[in-house]
This record gives sequence, structure tokens and C-alpha cells, in this order.
Amino acid sequence: MSYDRSVSASPHELTPETVWHVQMPQIRVGRGAVRELGFQLDDLGVDGDARGLIVTDETLAGIGHAGRVADHVEDRGFDVDIYDDSEREPSIEAVEDCLSFVREEMDEDGYDFYVGLGGGSCLDTAKATRAVVANGGETLDYVAEPTGSGEDLTDSGPPLVLLPTTAGTGSEISPVAILSVAEKDIKEGISSNNVRADAAVLDPTLTTSLPPDLTAKTAMDALGHAIEGYTTHRYDELLRPEDPADRPVYAGRTGFTELFSEKAIDLLSSNVRRAVNNGDDLEAREAMLKGALYGAIAGLTAGASLCHAMAYPVGNKYHTYHGETIAVLTPASTLGYNVASDPDRFADIADMLGANTDGLGTRAAAGRAREEFVALQRDLNVLPSGLHELAGVTEDEIDWLAEQTVDTQQRLLRCNPCPVTKDDVAEIFRDSLHNWE
Ligand SMILES: [Fe+2]
Repeated sequence: MSYDRSVSASPHELTPETVWHVQMPQIRVGRGAVRELGFQLDDLGVDGDARGLIVTDETLAGIGHAGRVADHVEDRGFDVDIYDDSEREPSIEAVEDCLSFVREEMDEDGYDFYVGLGGGSCLDTAKATRAVVANGGETLDYVAEPTGSGEDLTDSGPPLVLLPTTAGTGSEISPVAILSVAEKDIKEGISSNNVRADAAVLDPTLTTSLPPDLTAKTAMDALGHAIEGYTTHRYDELLRPEDPADRPVYAGRTGFTELFSEKAIDLLSSNVRRAVNNGDDLEAREAMLKGALYGAIAGLTAGASLCHAMAYPVGNKYHTYHGETIAVLTPASTLGYNVASDPDRFADIADMLGANTDGLGTRAAAGRAREEFVALQRDLNVLPSGLHELAGVTEDEIDWLAEQTVDTQQRLLRCNPCPVTKDDVAEIFRDSLHNWE
């Protein structure tokens, strides 16, 4: 199956894209940044008698992070409630539960500000909740068709600040909230610049409690964003939309995104061993948070591609963590099948990952990227060796997974640097069953 990179179905002049655009929340990074949360809210226009909501989960409430964050908000004179019922890989119903809480406490108008605290799941729950309260109705009104009604979010709502406790998903800066639809076994996104947070506060002291396996899994997601962003198509390979509003969220790589990819791959690959082996290593934790942020700036602007497209059907069917799914699929997809699209670029990635490519020709050096990535995963000692160990996937399920990928993930496949058929995808899944013995 081929795919169409045109960004608009309406008639327009066939001129190449000449413009790129970056939209980001305010970003505050470093040890002690959480102490500036009150100031950050103030700076976003939250006034004196405001009442806000922290959206988090039971674990983070239990270890005291939610209370600590609430203290920093209250120190500034704001009132704040805590909602700690967010679930992993949030469903539409989970967002509806949070919405009910908000409407019971504050009626239809909702809170004056929102704070998301946690991994991508908590942050996405906070993003979706604020968006639906501000625009009215229910969650499905804004989920893409055909699952939902696909209505536009016209109002971004009151200020939203996100505090990630993992270094991986990039949800703190992305314009998407990913939600699962239980009865259909699929994931859908609410995607809009009005879902994006107003500010992200990245404090490594909030990430030291993350256990080694989750540290490794979320790091693989972050590396995936950085590498897929570095190897997706160029922005000027798209056609220019007549209306700038039609420019896709994943708009291709630019000189800007490449800088962030390069730095992200370096930071993540050279610090993940330290962060996994000693969770209290604040220097490594801060480097990982920055690496994940840079990876997200690159990958979630330029565009994730084949590996992320293949990861969603796997995650939906087997309920695996997103990061570990990316970990097992990256070697055969991004660093295997895609290498032929631009071997020089993959040879550069091998260098960024720290591989020794001295004396090797371009093809051989490009192949070292995959070997180095797998060696890194084996070193971490907490990641599955392939799809089989991850979820017991066997040959029998590969055709279904390949079909789901090409049928439901064209948004991401469009970003892949080379065309991919259903048979290609099946072969890549097969190649991902065992990355090592
Ligand atoms: Fe991801």
C-alpha cells in the first residue's frame, strides 16, 4: 500500500512547502523548578483567589509528590484540589470520570487552572479534561472520527501546567492527548494546538522515584522520538497548504528539529545506564529529562513514523507499555528497514549512539546503529528481547498486526522516509520477534 503525502484534499497550487513553524509551551527545567510552579501560574495570569486542580495518580499521591506540588501552589496563595484517580493508558471513560469530578466540584465552568503531574497517562488525562471542560460536551465530541465526532476545540481553556515524572513521552509539550477506546481495542487522540499545555515544569527531583524498568522503557520511547524525528521526510517534501491552519502537526524535519534530535540521542544514550542503575543520580536524571524534552521537540514536531505506527496495534492488543513496545520494534523498523532511505543519516546516528565506526564504509557504519541500540538495551537488563518475550507474540498474529498498522496508522506512515507495504510491515514484525537470544 502506498500513501499520499499531500496535506490537503482540496484543490490548490502544487507548490512545495517553504515554511515551517514551531509552537511550544513555556518550558522551565532544572533541579528545584517545581518550587517555581506558583510563580509559573502567576505568570500565566492565574489570580489571587483562584482554585485549581492537580490531576495525578494514586502512586504519586501515595509517595507524597502530589502533596509537595500542592504545597508549592498554595504557597502562592492559590487553592488547589487533588484528583488522584488517573489510570494507566487512560480510556475515554477515565477522562469522563475526571470530568465528573470537576463538574461536581466546580459546575460547568470548571477550575481556574489545571496541573498535570505524572507520566504521559496523567498528563494526557489533564490535557483532555481541561479541553473538554473549556469547550463543553463530552470527550467523544472531540475524538477523531469515526470513533468520535471530531469537533474542533476552539477554546484552549484556563492555564494548564504539566510536570512529568518520567523522561519519555513528551506529552508535556505535545498537542495530543492519547486515549484508549476499550470496546474497540484501539487508541485515539484528541489532537489540537488547543490541547497543548501552557507551560511545562521539568524537575529531575520528581523523577528519582521511577523504578529501573520504567526508566528504561520511557527512555526508549524518548530515543524513538529523537531517531524517528531525525529520519523522517524533510518538511519541504510536502505540498504547501493554501491555509496555514491546514499544515499538519507532524510537518517533517527541519534544521531546527535536527539540532534537537542530535542532542537528544547523545544525552539519552549516554545517561540511561546511569539513571537505570542508580535512580537517585540527579545529574543523570536531569540529562534524561532534557534528552526526552529535546527528543519530543524533534520527533513530535517533525513526526514519528513507522515504528510508532507499528507500536499502536501492539499496545492495543497486548496492553504493553508504549515505551517497551517502541524498544522492541525500533531495531527492525527505524534502524533496519528504514536504513536504505538514507544510509549516511543512519551512519551519523551510529556515531551519536557512541558506536565505533572507524574505517567502515557508509553502509556498514549505518548498520552499526542497530547493533549499538540493541547492545544498549541488553546492557540495561530490564527490557524484553523482542515481541515474543514482550507479549508472547507468535507468527500466527503477525498478519493481523500488519493489517492493523496499514489500516489505522496512515497518519504516521505518511511520515516514513520510504514507502512501506503490508508485506513489508509483516516482515518487520517477524524480524522483531527476537532481537537477541
Ligand atoms: Fe512515543
